[in-house]
Amino acid sequence: MNTAVMGLQWGDEGKGKAIDYLAHDFDVVVRYQGGHNAGHTIYYQGEKVVLHLLPSGIFSENTISVMGHGVVVNPQQLVQEIKEVESLGIQLESLELSIFCPLILPVHQHLDIVFENSRYEKIGTTRRGIGPAYEDLTGRRAVFIGDLLDKDKFYKKVTPLNDYYNKLIGCYGGEQISIDSYIDDYIETGKYLKPFAKNTIYSLNQYFREGKRILYEGAQGVLLDINFGTYPFVTSSNPTVGGICTGTGLSYKALDKIIGITKAYTTRVGGGPFPSELFNQSAEFLREQGKEYGATTGRPRRVGWLDLVALKYTIMINGVDQIFLTKLDVLDAFDEIKVVTAYQVNGKETDIFNPSSDYLEKVQPICQSFAGWRQDTGVINHYHDLPGKTRDYITFIENFTGVPLHYISVGTGRHQTIKK
Ligand code: GDP
Ligand code: IMO
Ligand code: MG
Repeated sequence: MNTAVMGLQWGDEGKGKAIDYLAHDFDVVVRYQGGHNAGHTIYYQGEKVVLHLLPSGIFSENTISVMGHGVVVNPQQLVQEIKEVESLGIQLESLELSIFCPLILPVHQHLDIVFENSRYEKIGTTRRGIGPAYEDLTGRRAVFIGDLLDKDKFYKKVTPLNDYYNKLIGCYGGEQISIDSYIDDYIETGKYLKPFAKNTIYSLNQYFREGKRILYEGAQGVLLDINFGTYPFVTSSNPTVGGICTGTGLSYKALDKIIGITKAYTTRVGGGPFPSELFNQSAEFLREQGKEYGATTGRPRRVGWLDLVALKYTIMINGVDQIFLTKLDVLDAFDEIKVVTAYQVNGKETDIFNPSSDYLEKVQPICQSFAGWRQDTGVINHYHDLPGKTRDYITFIENFTGVPLHYISVGTGRHQTIKK
């Protein structure tokens, strides 16, 4: 069954770990959106590896890894990541990079910082040029991986773009960026990436026709989606189901199942509303238990209880079939665990998740409380060996959302996954 794995919260749900665990059942793993704002953590032979651009299936032997054209690429970052992974003894001959991936240029990163600094309310972007690069795509100015393979073509395309951006940067009093400062470097990365570059729309469709099993890897999470997330505190792409087709060139017929990933609680990096957020000591305790520091920027993540109102919304708009629950072990040390089951807005109770940040800033969460199980779940391999109170918590989530929890992750390792 061709399957998508997507984060159902504000990112960092454990997609890297889940995809690494699931990948051995698939022939192809394809990333469909985002860029190196993502940080997907995997433990390979006991060593921590954080992937920003490469699909998380690379550690699974005989799996073809594809970067679909929905991914925006900083080529230096990609080259560096390929070299790092190869130094671990991983062969990447089967890696495919779409020639239609939009490029991130130095001006994009510069503008991301300039725009962010000029905002009254900060989004808290990863400052990697993701937003401006996607803006170029919809602005019909983007430069692609395919353009990088030909110096003259690249120069011709980048010149007007660079001029355009320098004008904009000038308006904000920023420093001008000359093409000469990066063109050679970019062309060098183009030479390095050339063997991987191809029209992946055709190769992916060929794999589909051959009956190869495809696993789609989302980056970020549904609540960061440009169309469905907590706008404007979102990223500039579609982690949601539509992004799968637009980011790969495979049709809906090549998608049979959606596995949504959620932590057993909630985290968020950057600005924006977060109804179930915890503060002070409770937040610090949860952050330390969960080691909640960003895999990409190292920022402390904001933390809070699991929000089932938000989860039902993300499940609904994506047609999620199964849930992959992660970081359940992080709750092992708690005496009391809460989940949000409704919101109170202007004195009325509701189960509507309206992603507008103005609305969400106003809501008061209504919580249901559970007794903690206070047992080490990280050593458990079978569902029925989990403490009864843990199973009560899981059953409550299943009943509330109406979606089965098929996988339960109780640690960072691939083997610390319980199949229900
Ligand atoms: P992603 O962006 O969704 O791939 O998630 P990140 O890698 O940014 O963050 C998830 C973090 O939680 C990583 O450090 C993982 O190693 C870790 N992790 C994943 N699953 C579990 C789990 O079940 N238990 C614990 N304790 N850590 C986990
Ligand atoms: P993974 O794939 C968590 C957040 C940023 C910021 C907002 C916009 O590891 O789950 P951007 O740089 O994309 O313009 O930033 O989105 N953000 C993420 N938060 N995990 C991610 O990716 C994220 N990618 C972007 O912190 O709030
Ligand atoms: Mg991450």
